[in-house]
Amino acid sequence: MTHPSTQAILVTGASSGIGKHLTLRLAGRGHPVYATVRKEADVEALSKIENVIPLLMDVRNAEQVRAAFEKVSESGRGLYGLVNNAGVGDLGMLVTWTDEEMYDIFNVNVFGPHRVTNAFIQLLVEAKGRVVNIGSQGGMLTSKYYGPYIMTKHALEAYTAVLYDELKPYGVQVSVIQPGGIVSDIGNNMMAGTIAHFQRAQPPFKAEAEMVLQSFTEESEPNPNEPESATNRKPSSPEIVWDAVRDALFSEKPKMRYLVGTHWEGNRVINALISKLLDENDNPMHNYSRDELIALLDKHLEARSIPQQ
Ligand SMILES: NC(=O)c1ccc[n+]([C@@H]2O[C@H](COP(=O)([O-])OP(=O)(O)OC[C@H]3O[C@@H](n4cnc5c(N)ncnc54)[C@H](OP(=O)(O)O)[C@@H]3O)[C@@H](O)[C@H]2O)c1
Repeated sequence: MTHPSTQAILVTGASSGIGKHLTLRLAGRGHPVYATVRKEADVEALSKIENVIPLLMDVRNAEQVRAAFEKVSESGRGLYGLVNNAGVGDLGMLVTWTDEEMYDIFNVNVFGPHRVTNAFIQLLVEAKGRVVNIGSQGGMLTSKYYGPYIMTKHALEAYTAVLYDELKPYGVQVSVIQPGGIVSDIGNNMMAGTIAHFQRAQPPFKAEAEMVLQSFTEESEPNPNEPESATNRKPSSPEIVWDAVRDALFSEKPKMRYLVGTHWEGNRVINALISKLLDENDNPMHNYSRDELIALLDKHLEARSIPQQ
């Protein structure tokens, strides 16, 4: 078995939430972890943890990405795994987003993983390593007010799928993790930007935006005695993201996609995908019958050696 100390991993956005959890788990397993953060205080806090090597890096800043690469390269440990986790997610009606804001969220959530992956690609190829992108169930479905965030996560899905095909011949496996709601700082981190978006809505969108703003003040804790629903969401522990990331990084046959979350959330994704499939089927060229669709599904199950019935 490969010793963890020989498999260095870089995690972006390690100051809080999922990235911090992954960093602690990886370091606890004995991997040298390059944990990238944006604030000196986070460098100081993380540097106290065994096996963690904090690096300053804003994923939008090509110079900082390059400097981080130099440091990792100089250490001589190589790089086995890259976890593109850093992400932002303000909400707001699409009509309230400026071009600059739209570019910025893509810059962090999509161009960031691209920039960081490209910077470290030689080391990852040398190690026959792994790239793990933290996507979202939002990469598979759509939901109003989540527009730009969901657009970036759809883009990250496409990025992952193409990178998967392009890097496989070079021995690098690529996966995307698709969490549902996970306990983290994302809610707090996006609140100011989200409120600003709803506050700047103009007629005829203003009344709707005001209702959304009002709902923020009424939000309560999930009711554990009621089943999960759109109004009673039950965020999961980041530990379930770690379970998927661990598999993507270390299992012999990592999957390309890992859907992570509650049963209610998974159900929502599967239903959204079936609905999309039926939209595609509803055209004069490919209007498959129900029986033909079932036969197609059986064929795909067979190709994956999944028993039918
Ligand atoms: N929590 C969920 O429900 C959920 C669900 C699905 C997917 N995700 C995804 O999980 C990932 C982690 O999110 P989280 O929930 O753990 O949120 P979080 O607690 O807000 O953590 C986000 C991390 O990204 C960093 N970051 C933000 N902008 C950055 C930039 N320009 N350059 C480098 N780092 C940057 C933050 O650093 P600073 O502290 O310096 O801001 C922080 O470390 C994101 O990609 C998110 O989309 C989260």
